[in-house]
Order: sequence, then C-alpha cells, then structure tokens
Amino acid sequence: MDTKTLSDKYIMNTYNRFDIEITRGEDVYVYDENNKKYLDFTAGIAVNSLGYKDKDCINAAIEQLNKFNHCSNLYYSKPQAQVAKLLVENSCFEKVFFCNSGAEANEAAIKIAKKFGKTKGENCSKIITMKNSFHGRTIGALSATGQEKYQKSFTPLLSNFEYAEFNNLKSVEALVDDNTCAIIVEPVQGEGGLYPATKEFLSGLRKLCDEKNVLLCFDEVQCGIGRLGTLFAYQTFGVEPDIVAMAKGLANGLPIGACAAKGIAASILTPGDHASTFGGNPVSCACANVVLDKLINKGILQNVKNTGEYLNLKLTELKKQYSVIKEIRGIGLMAGIELTVKAKDIMTKAIKEGLLIIGAGENVIRFVPPLTISKENIDEMISILKTVLES
Ligand SMILES: Cc1ncc(COP(=O)(O)O)c(C=O)c1O
Repeated sequence: MDTKTLSDKYIMNTYNRFDIEITRGEDVYVYDENNKKYLDFTAGIAVNSLGYKDKDCINAAIEQLNKFNHCSNLYYSKPQAQVAKLLVENSCFEKVFFCNSGAEANEAAIKIAKKFGKTKGENCSKIITMKNSFHGRTIGALSATGQEKYQKSFTPLLSNFEYAEFNNLKSVEALVDDNTCAIIVEPVQGEGGLYPATKEFLSGLRKLCDEKNVLLCFDEVQCGIGRLGTLFAYQTFGVEPDIVAMAKGLANGLPIGACAAKGIAASILTPGDHASTFGGNPVSCACANVVLDKLINKGILQNVKNTGEYLNLKLTELKKQYSVIKEIRGIGLMAGIELTVKAKDIMTKAIKEGLLIIGAGENVIRFVPPLTISKENIDEMISILKTVLES
C-alpha cells in the first residue's frame, strides 16, 4: 500500500492533507515521492529554522544519541541546562520550563498564571486573551484561543477565560478586574491571519498589568526564536512580558517547547506542580543549542532582517501588479498577503508549480520560510507566485 492509502486507512482524519508525500529535504527545498522539487516557504509551519540537513544540527543530534537518547527529569542533563542558559542570558527572563510543543508551553504559562492568582486571592483566576488568537489544541490552550471555530465542538472548556479585541487597549481594560491573574497575547497573530500587534498596544498592556498586578504573557510560539529578526519577538516591540511561550523553531524540527519567565512568575512553580516526561529531551536540546548559537552568534538574525525587508519589498511590488492582493502584513520572515480569493486555491496551484506556501484563515497566504533563506530564494518564490496569480 502507498503512504497515502496507509495514512488514510490508519491515521485519524484530523488533517486536510495535500496530495504529496515529502521524502527528503535539502537547504530550503523539499522533494516528493516522485523526486519533484519544491521551494519550501512553510518550513513545517515556522519550525525548520535552519532549513533541511543542517550539518551542525545533524552532528549534534547524532553525537547526543551516541551518548544517551533520553533521561528523566529526575536527573540533570547538560544539553537542557545549556539551552536554558542561552535563553536566559539573551533575554529578560530568569528561568525556563521545558515541554514538547506550543500548546504545552501555553499550558505551563496558564498554570503559572493560575498559581500566581492564588497569591492574590482564592477567586483570582481570570485570564484575558484576544479574539482571533490561537494558542493550541489542548483544553487549556484551546480555552485561551479566541476563535469559536476551534472551540465549538469541545465545550464546555475551562471557565474564566475572557476575550478582548486585539490591538484595542480599552477593550482589555474593560475586562480586567480584581480577579484577573494574567493577560495572554501573540505579538503577531499567526493562525488568525498575520496581524502584528502595535507597539502602543503591547506597551499599554504592560502598563495595565503593572498597575493591576497582573502577569503579562506573550505567546511567541510562532513569532519567536528569530522569526521577526530578534531572538524573542518581545525584543522587536521593546516590551517585556513576565512570561513567554515558545516552541516551533527552537530545535529546527525536533519536538520542543519552553516557557520562560521572570520575577515572581519564574519561581512560583515548585516541585510537584508541573512536569513533562519528554520535556527538555537531550536530543532536541542538542539541536536547540545549535539553533540558538547560529541565531545569536552566526548572523542568522541579521539574515532575517535583510531577507525580511526584501520579502516585504517584493510582496509590495507584487501587490501593485495584482489586484487580487488586498494587503501585505507581517514582520521579518513572518509575512502574509490577504487575497480577494480563497488561499486554498492559490496554495494548490503553487504546489503544482513547485512552491509550498500555507494559509492563515480563509483568505491569507502565509510565508514562514527557513530563517536561512537568501534573496535569490525570495526572487524564485515571487516568480512562481506570479505564474500562479496569472493563472
Ligand atoms: C501562536 C501559537 N501558539 C500555540 C500554537 C500551538 O503549538 P503546537 O501545535 O506546537 O501545540 C501555535 C501553533 O500553530 C501557534 O501558532
């Protein structure tokens, strides 16, 4: 049986998959079962930060596998400690909790927020998040997600989540009360359609949280780890949260998630409060150390800034030529175009032409390529996109 038939027969039907099987990758390209080559502007949805077959990642993973593949968090392990050190020394945060995914990173943030709430009062458990947000599929993260379409089949969800208008400080202020323990926001809404927060909104939230003794949490699962041209997204906006959730790009494709925090949020969880069997797995952490080293010390952040600007320029030029493009949005290598037609149709046609792109909502095409792309890769993508838009 071929892979498609096997998958359709044995895997639960939770994904609308395109009809191609990825068999290998190289740099910023992937290949299918017929050896057809695709330029990959999805990077596994903002995951493969160094693209495919990064030699240093491969060597680090193999070296670690030759030492030990996993050890319980009952013991110390060096790769994990090193990732935590790099994350802390290059941010405003003091401590890190490791898990395996973006949803879990948000679950950790929610538990920190709830326990912090207990220090304010028994009923202080309200968390404010934004409409149109996306925080993951586990029940806590789904409760935080301000989109009914993801929630409606799974109600009742956790109580005490309330949803404010994104980029509207007044709407958040109206919901904050004595029983509010945290505000969670994506600095750039990803799944919701590529909407960056304004600096004023985030700094307004910071001020509000300071005044009301509420924790501010940024969900940087998609927009963090270099994607905007700074290691953390908060650094692009110049507003420090108390907690950050990260995952996707941190280990270049190996599963990892992390929640970092400062101040009281960094020390509120104590032994027995939270744990993860696989959290901080040494092989994932070995790769995360390579990713962080390349972002911080080897010019990848600068590459994101340069190519991000170039991508924006090229998309803006494209908008002038094709009326089907309504708006260009995004920061760094997290860009989107809003279309007057369905994103799915464009994605399907792009695959035929050898380009992988993804949607974000009904009408938005999202570009989240490896952070290592070149201007030539962008030129190639634009040229394929033109062919698609012309058809
Ligand atoms: C902002 C944000 N938070 C959380 C998640 C969930 O991450 P995961 O799928 O790793 O659980 C995502 C996934 O797209 C995301 O974009």
